[in-house]
Amino acid sequence: MQEIVPGLIYAPGYLSREEQQELIDDLRAAVKAAPLFTPRMPRTGKEFSVRMTNCGTLGWVSDRERGYRYQSTHPETGAPWPAIPRLAMRAWEDLSPYKHPPEACLVNFYDASARMGLHQDRDEEDFDAPVVSLSLGDTCLFRIGGTERKSSTKSFKLQSGDAMMLSGAARLAFHGVDRIMGGTSTLLPQGGRLNLTLRRVTKA
Ligand code: SIN
Ligand code: MN
Repeated sequence: MQEIVPGLIYAPGYLSREEQQELIDDLRAAVKAAPLFTPRMPRTGKEFSVRMTNCGTLGWVSDRERGYRYQSTHPETGAPWPAIPRLAMRAWEDLSPYKHPPEACLVNFYDASARMGLHQDRDEEDFDAPVVSLSLGDTCLFRIGGTERKSSTKSFKLQSGDAMMLSGAARLAFHGVDRIMGGTSTLLPQGGRLNLTLRRVTKA
């Protein structure tokens, strides 16, 4: 494990190829139950380039009218979210020092042209709980900054099977995905990148 900036813990190759395949199989079942949706920015209604779904008791959603929030049901089907996959729960247990289990597992799907602008994860109640991330499929260039938008940033690659945690001083750091490097993984037959982020939403 490496600490890339204080509080950003990076565990390259956390999942074996077999484990990555198990997680993909679980995510395929999850996406059948909770289809990917396209979130929209608050107020402007601009579409994200990333498509999303969630697992867990709570899921992160965003739309024009009600903005960023967590809710217990899928915004289009109204159904509860599927369970968090086994290996995602294990990643939280292995990496997170937080005593309580995660409630949300946000699943982001990036096609070759998708990206995610610099933002903070701050829709949760307890910033003592870290955010644990798993990457699958194509490599991305991930950017990490500080707790202010104007802080300096640095970038590094996240590859299929890598785990990462934003904790402590990095819990509220600005971060984003600059670009997807198409054709860098054979895990997803159609290409693209999946990222899972595990979050504790409510104060325990
Ligand atoms: C996120 O910040 O929600 C996703 C980060 C990533 O895709 O690695
Ligand atoms: Mn984020």
